[in-house]
Amino acid sequence: MKFHEPRNLAFLNAGIITGSYIILFLLSVGIIFENAFIHFYTFLALLITSAAIFIIAYSIFLYTLERFIYSKVRLIYKSIHSVKTGKRDPPLPQAVNNIIDHVQEEVENWESDKQREIEQLKRLEQYRRDFIGNVSHELKTPLFNIQGYVSTLLDGGLEDPSVNREYLKRTEKSIERLVKILEDLDEISQLESGQLKLRVTRFDLVSLTREVTELLEMKARKNEIQFVLNDPGKPVMVEADKDKIRQVITNIIDNSIRYGNRENGKTKITFYDMDENILTEITDNGIGIDTADMARVFERFYRTVRGRAATKKGKGLGLAIVKHIVEAHHQIINVRSTIGVGTTFGFTLKKA
Ligand SMILES: Nc1ncnc2c1ncn2[C@@H]1O[C@H](COP(=O)(O)OP(=O)(O)OP(=O)(O)O)[C@@H](O)[C@H]1O
Ligand SMILES: [Mg+2]
Repeated sequence: MKFHEPRNLAFLNAGIITGSYIILFLLSVGIIFENAFIHFYTFLALLITSAAIFIIAYSIFLYTLERFIYSKVRLIYKSIHSVKTGKRDPPLPQAVNNIIDHVQEEVENWESDKQREIEQLKRLEQYRRDFIGNVSHELKTPLFNIQGYVSTLLDGGLEDPSVNREYLKRTEKSIERLVKILEDLDEISQLESGQLKLRVTRFDLVSLTREVTELLEMKARKNEIQFVLNDPGKPVMVEADKDKIRQVITNIIDNSIRYGNRENGKTKITFYDMDENILTEITDNGIGIDTADMARVFERFYRTVRGRAATKKGKGLGLAIVKHIVEAHHQIINVRSTIGVGTTFGFTLKKA
């Protein structure tokens, strides 16, 4: 039995009062110490008055207790509700009897909500900390390089014709990298905050892809990568922001060169008609991505161990931008990959 429940407390108190009354009654008629005989009617009167006292005491106690508790918990109940909903007063439960159960339920729900909020805030905080760490780490390398080259030039390198041009060129490269990182970060933050408005037009995806492959042709050749564009022989019209989609295709094809096969590398681009959408798949036969890394390659600054080993050049921002752009179009992007065999990135666009 739970003694702290109002009904049980009222029962206990009414029991004590009735018990005391019976003892006093028995003392007064001399039954306890004088062993007097109790008359049947006296016994009946005792029984009736005891029952009446018990019922009255029980009712008064229960009513007072519940009123008291209700007035106290009402405030808690109200404030929990207004914190939860952020506005209006709650519909208070009518039955006074249920108020404790209601409050208990409310408090439990509130507690689990708060727990979830705290966990989410912790995750965000960790994400923020990682992000700041990553940004400063990425900015440090080119900045230290610039610092090194400038110091060497000032310490006499400027007058040395064998190094001065070379060091200035390297300084320029590091500055370009810094600018690129900042541009990418700016783009990501604009995409994330929804500030970037898409300029949606109708265009041919095949000719846009051809433009991109032509621009990347030199880089691909240097890395011995061959492009295979599966041309459907007719325009594939889509509705999207052309410049942004150019960026998506460029980033994915650029990755296929960067992380591609050094001997006999191939990047295949294929378009699939999916009724309402067009699915574009870009497949390479490069180093591949581990299953555990597949979801993470779209995170800002995330680079796989194999990716880092393949080249120092990456910033880990390209795919984060790609994912944001595709999602801003309310479309999907996915990746499948097998280590040592190759990787396929696929994204959809609305058919025009
Ligand atoms: N086609 C691919 N094959 C194997 N690994 C890939 C491929 N594409 C991406 N990755 C892995 O995913 C990581 C993230 O790619 P992402 O394009 O975001 O960054 P990045 O290429 O390193 O740098 P950048 O910001 O200059 O594009 C890469 O560092 C690489 O480890
Ligand atoms: Mg990239």
